[in-house]
Amino acid sequence: MKIMATKGVHTTADHVLITSGSQQGFDLVAEAFINKGDKIVVESPTYLAALQTFKMYQASFIEAPVDEKGVIPEELDCILRTEANVKLVYMIPSFQNPSGRTISAERRKALMQVIQKYDVVLIEDAPYEDLKYTDASIRL
Ligand SMILES: Cc1ncc(COP(=O)(O)O)c(C=O)c1O
Repeated sequence: MKIMATKGVHTTADHVLITSGSQQGFDLVAEAFINKGDKIVVESPTYLAALQTFKMYQASFIEAPVDEKGVIPEELDCILRTEANVKLVYMIPSFQNPSGRTISAERRKALMQVIQKYDVVLIEDAPYEDLKYTDASIRL
């Protein structure tokens, strides 16, 4: 709850589900949102174990084009506008695996503005975020 509060998201204990690792989390999200043939937008490249879990639910993937700052908002907008059955957007915005890239606050805002226009859920995978020395560049 404290971690979410630093992101400006108010949560209570009812919003928190402790899992035995990220893969159980991916599995629960996929179970809730994915039916055969649904699509998930991912960064290119992205974390293999997440793809493997989502694949078990027969999701297909759309690679979102990236530049040195991360996913390109206009490209994401184009994907979400034109593709049917996109249920999830999966991103690792801090110390992305495998690229190591961290998305700036400005780019995060632009991406959220796009995502909020559509009926789609963003999964933010942030296992390494607390390892940073400074957080000035990513706080919204
Ligand atoms: C992006 C990303 N998410 C999640 C994990 C794994 O997290 P957990 O140890 O909770 O399964 C890793 C580990 O490499 C990772 O790189």
